[in-house]
Amino acid sequence: MEPTVFQGRYQVVKKTALAKEIYEMVILCPQIAQLAQAGQFVHVKAPSFTLRRPISICEIDRAKGTLRIVFEVRGDGTAEIAQIPQGGWIDLMGPLGHGFQLLEQGKKAIVVGGGIGVPPMLETAAHYGENAVAIIGFRSASAVILEEDFQKAGCTVDLCTDDGTRGRKGFVTEALKARLQQEKPDIIYACGPMVMLKGVAALAKEYGVRCQVSLEERMGCGIGACLVCACKTKKPDGEESYSHVCKNGPVFEAEEVVF
Ligand code: FES
Repeated sequence: MEPTVFQGRYQVVKKTALAKEIYEMVILCPQIAQLAQAGQFVHVKAPSFTLRRPISICEIDRAKGTLRIVFEVRGDGTAEIAQIPQGGWIDLMGPLGHGFQLLEQGKKAIVVGGGIGVPPMLETAAHYGENAVAIIGFRSASAVILEEDFQKAGCTVDLCTDDGTRGRKGFVTEALKARLQQEKPDIIYACGPMVMLKGVAALAKEYGVRCQVSLEERMGCGIGACLVCACKTKKPDGEESYSHVCKNGPVFEAEEVVF
């Protein structure tokens, strides 16, 4: 059965600039919020473009009927979306894609996010609360976002910056290795640049921990109809094929992805 997807114009009830060219919006869209799962995304229309932009879901508040999205301005489309004011209207389609599979309460998780790959990890981290370690990495202190949100969700936060201006100097993969040497979680989740995901997947394999990764890919339709978002994946028998990031993903078992 095809999943239910809504499309419409919804009100932006809060908009804030979190860092340079990074914005958060809280959108009142009860139907989408009701169905949304951690790791899924919404497809957003910039007013003067036909092609939508995929933006991952950062937080879901089903009681209030809101979704929180955090995105980076990367071109004219996202720049236009960033112009929508608080109180204005945004054209959304969602929820889309396969999200993270959450284990039952009491299990331990490590969530790893790099840069704009950090926001999609918040909802997942919040599910595990104090049983989660969030390893979040940014270029430098000025790019750090959502640190307090992970702390409020009860997680232990390992903050890393490439230049050492905040937290631990170095990559999230180094912090992950240090954590794995202490204690193995039940599952690792990750979202960020491909090289980071590759490193996380390799560590998960080395330590024998299940790992799910969320891939970022250019998208067209967002619903599995245009082939723009194809990525190479492999089946358990090693046979390689192509999957649609928008429909089969964005979340995949790390073992399925051909990096
Ligand atoms: Fe069209 Fe994925 S974006 S198939």
